[in-house]
Amino acid sequence: MNDPFLPYSRPVVTEDDIAAVAESLRDVMISQGARLEQLEGLFARMVSAKWAVGVSSGTAAVHTMCHAAGLGPGDEVVLPALTFAGTANAVRYLGARPVFADVTPDTMCLDPQSVAGLATGRTRAVLTVDFAGHPSPYASLRRVAAERDAMLLSDAAHAPGAMVDGHAVGGALADLTAFSLNPVKNITAGEGGLVTGSDPAMRDRAACFVRHGMTREKRLLENQDNAKHGWYYEQQVLGYNYKLSELHAALALSQLKRLEAHNATRAQIAAYYAQELDAELLRLPVVLPGVTPAWHLYVVRLREGGAAMRNALFAALRSAGIGVQLHYIPVPLHPDYKRAGLAPDDMSETLPVTMDYFDTALSLPVHPAMDESDAARVVDAVSSFFATRRPR
Ligand SMILES: Cc1ncc(COP(=O)(O)O)c(C=O)c1O
Repeated sequence: MNDPFLPYSRPVVTEDDIAAVAESLRDVMISQGARLEQLEGLFARMVSAKWAVGVSSGTAAVHTMCHAAGLGPGDEVVLPALTFAGTANAVRYLGARPVFADVTPDTMCLDPQSVAGLATGRTRAVLTVDFAGHPSPYASLRRVAAERDAMLLSDAAHAPGAMVDGHAVGGALADLTAFSLNPVKNITAGEGGLVTGSDPAMRDRAACFVRHGMTREKRLLENQDNAKHGWYYEQQVLGYNYKLSELHAALALSQLKRLEAHNATRAQIAAYYAQELDAELLRLPVVLPGVTPAWHLYVVRLREGGAAMRNALFAALRSAGIGVQLHYIPVPLHPDYKRAGLAPDDMSETLPVTMDYFDTALSLPVHPAMDESDAARVVDAVSSFFATRRPR
């Protein structure tokens, strides 16, 4: 019998999660109720932020974060080319221009030097991505952003629970941070996301944006004459319906209790891979001093053989029922980005680390439903592949 398919990630849903969602359905308020508020409070506390705003997806979280930061037409945002396209799409939704920078060869997070070379007078924000769950070089990025009077934003879709020198991702490391709760992330709401920050004015902007741009909060109303009426509310900006329902919030709240445990299992699988995979054949993930990663992905890069060898390994592992993936096709390579004139001219020169990564990388399965025997199966399949290709 063939081994079952081992996905690169998958949600882990317990009976407690199911009971929590079922319970939420017994309430009158199945949207805009107490669970969302509770989730926002607990999540903010967990990441040492002053506030959190829950939204319907991680992409909505990045969009809302960029709106709260005041981005709009004519603004430039420097971000890594190596990310899920949703990060850059959210910048474009606001009419701002994504400018693609390279990543560092160790952790594949946004390279501060590359950012410094691309920032202009129009740069309003530096938007980093905590790639694979490893925190970005926040201190250096903060310096580069401050030199240009730009904000530092973080897409931490991969990094809930990650820490740097005792500071949680989502707290004061960046001005604003976005998280995703989609089914393959470290914890899930089915679909969902959160924005966190410390500036109360930005919280107000975020909370309004995700409710159609409308508010009922008396202190925020522009027409104070009507504030005394219980029926009064205002649309103050063109917003979106990005609300997270109580069903989703119930699942997220239940999963949040297990985030630490989920991340610990991910770390165990990563430690096993680090011990068992052949570092002469594969460049294994690097963890910088003082960092606790969230191990959202476990990405290896082939040392030799380029794209042809990577593609062969990818195909061999898929044939063995191992759900390897490539995270990600660099965003400016997508046809839509080329047509929009957003792709740099010669990417091998301007984004050398990203382009080398694109030829050589592959994500191995890592998720909390795996045990060591699953990880051993992956290691064996990788070893068998190389055994047939080694020079004799
Ligand atoms: C880095 C990054 N940013 C943003 C997103 C978007 O999140 P969602 O799928 O919840 O919209 C993802 C999801 O895959 C992601 O990996």
